[in-house]
This record gives sequence, C-alpha cells and structure tokens, in this order.
Amino acid sequence: MDEILKQIDEKYRNLRHDPNTFLKGLLHSKPLTYWDYIQVDTLLSLQKTKTDFPDEYIFVVYHQITELLLALITHELKQLLADGLQMENAKIEDKVNRINRYAEVLDNSFSVMSQGMEYQQYNEFRLALAPASGFQAVSFRLIEFYCTDIINLIRPENKSKVTADATYLDKLRLVYWQDAGMNRQTGERSLMLDIFEEKYLPLLVSTAEACAGKNLNAIIEKRQMTDSLKNGLRRMDYLLNVKWPLSHLHTAETYLIAAGHKTASTGMSDWQKYLHPAYQQRCFFPSVWSNEERSNWGNFTVE
Ligand code: HEM
Repeated sequence: MDEILKQIDEKYRNLRHDPNTFLKGLLHSKPLTYWDYIQVDTLLSLQKTKTDFPDEYIFVVYHQITELLLALITHELKQLLADGLQMENAKIEDKVNRINRYAEVLDNSFSVMSQGMEYQQYNEFRLALAPASGFQAVSFRLIEFYCTDIINLIRPENKSKVTADATYLDKLRLVYWQDAGMNRQTGERSLMLDIFEEKYLPLLVSTAEACAGKNLNAIIEKRQMTDSLKNGLRRMDYLLNVKWPLSHLHTAETYLIAAGHKTASTGMSDWQKYLHPAYQQRCFFPSVWSNEERSNWGNFTVE
C-alpha cells in the first residue's frame, strides 16, 4: 500500500498537481457500473429501422455486429501498421490469429442473415433501403489497404492499365470494387458508387498511399516466414477473401433469386457476377499461395 501511495504521490507531483486533492476526490467518486462502462443505453439506442417489419431489426443489428467485428480486426491491423516492421514473427502470428478468430465469427454467424429472416419480410423492407448497400461499408475497404498494396486489389486483366506515373487516384479507379458500380465500357456509374465516393474518396486515396510499404503484406514480404505464420496468413486470406464472401453471396442468392429469377439489388450491381471471389480475385498475400491456387481462386477450401 505504501508503495502504491508513493507512486500516486510521484505521478501527480510530476503532473504539477497536489496528490492530496486527487486522493480526497477518490473518497467521493461513485463505484463504476457495468452499464456506464459498456455504454449499454447508448448502444441499444442505435437500432433505427426504416419500416415496421420486425425482421428489419435483425438486419440492422447484424450489420452493426459486423461493424464491431471489423473494428476489432482494424484494431489489430493498426498496431501492425505502427510497429509491424519491428515485431517478431511470433507477435505478428498472434495478431493474425486474433484477426482469424474475428473473421471466423463473421463467417460462422452469417446464418443469422441467410436463415434468420423471413424471405417475404426481407423483400419488402429492402425496398425502403435503396440506393444504400453493404457495399458502402468503408471499414472493409480500409482493412484492404491495411492488409495489402493497392496493386493486389486490381484484377489481373486491369493491372496492365496501371501506368508508371499513375497516381493513387488513378489506381483507385482500377480496383476491383469499382466494378460493382461502374461499367468499364461505357463509364456509366451507379448512384450507390457516386454517393460512396462523395463521402470517402479522399480518405480512401490517402489511406492507400499512407499504407503502401507498411501494410501487413509489406511486413511479411520483408522477412523469413515460419510455416505457422504462413498458415495463419493463408487462413486469413481465405476467410476474408473467399469463405466470408461466399457465405455473403449465397445469402444474396437466397433472398434475391426467386423461382430462378434474379432480382435487382438495392445497389444495382451485377451482383451475382461481381460478388464471387473468382471474379474479384481479391488476395492480400499473393506470396503465400501457389500459382495453381491463385488460378483457382474462390474454388477451393482451406482448413
Ligand atoms: C440478406 C442479407 C444481404 C444481402 C441480400 C446482401 C446483398 C448484397 C449485394 C447484392 C451486394 C452487391 C452490391 C449491390 O448491388 O448492392 C452486396 C455488397 C456488399 N454487402 Fe451485402 N448483403 C447482405 C448482408 C450484408 C451484411 C450483413 C453485410 C455486413 C456489413 C454486408 C456487407 C456487404 C459488403 C461489404 C458488400 C461489398 C462486397 C464487395 O465489394 O466485395 N452485406 N450485398
């Protein structure tokens, strides 16, 4: 106890404050509660639905859960961006395993969407949501830049269009996700994409540039990798870029294909083609895959 009091005394003297004032303040402070610490009332006040269909509440809550899981992934990736070049393999592996745990939850829980809403209700309330789309979830777009250089987000057929003097904005125009809202032949763009870029374009361009050479792929390329780190990275790539996207695509098919008929999505993309990992070719860590695996992307499983 004496030692703790001594340290408190020292801490507040260093802050140029009287330690006695702080110690007396402790006598008056109330005990911490769960609800204040976790901000329960605020958290449970954020579920605003647009219609009276009860299943829309599930849709909103599950998207919010996804955002929190993406925030956990981002939390680990930001530490890697800051210190990863100096970290030992074991520490990086620990962070990759944490990310994989969150990614497993994302994928395993997707049945809340695929099986947990009434088909009829979904297809009514979704009409009130256009032109919004999960596509506009910027958290995942930023995670991509924390994980890999922008060139790895450009589909093979478009890589040759990256000129030597291309700016980050030029490169951003070529990334795979533009295909959800832009017709590369006519240049026509969807409202979903325009609204998304109006809000986030400067952030996306600056993040892509700031993460170049510091992202997780750049960190692992600069070192001799252990087998277990390599396996962790393979699992991460597979979960985030193949397995979870396939669960999402199959969910979209469950709700948006009726009697063999494809329905337009709220974001108006050619979604069945666009959402398949084999089309997107999104891969964060190309060096941990064989050429055969890369050419078969989206069509094999990793345990
Ligand atoms: C019934 C549930 C869902 C359906 C039917 C669905 C459908 C779609 C469709 C059709 C697209 C393509 C863009 C468009 O045309 O709108 C899309 C994109 C997207 N959705 Fe969903 N979605 C569902 C749930 C979710 C959930 C829970 C999330 C979590 C945040 C999510 C996140 C995304 C993301 C990130 C994209 C962009 C994917 C990419 O660019 O690879 N979706 N969704």
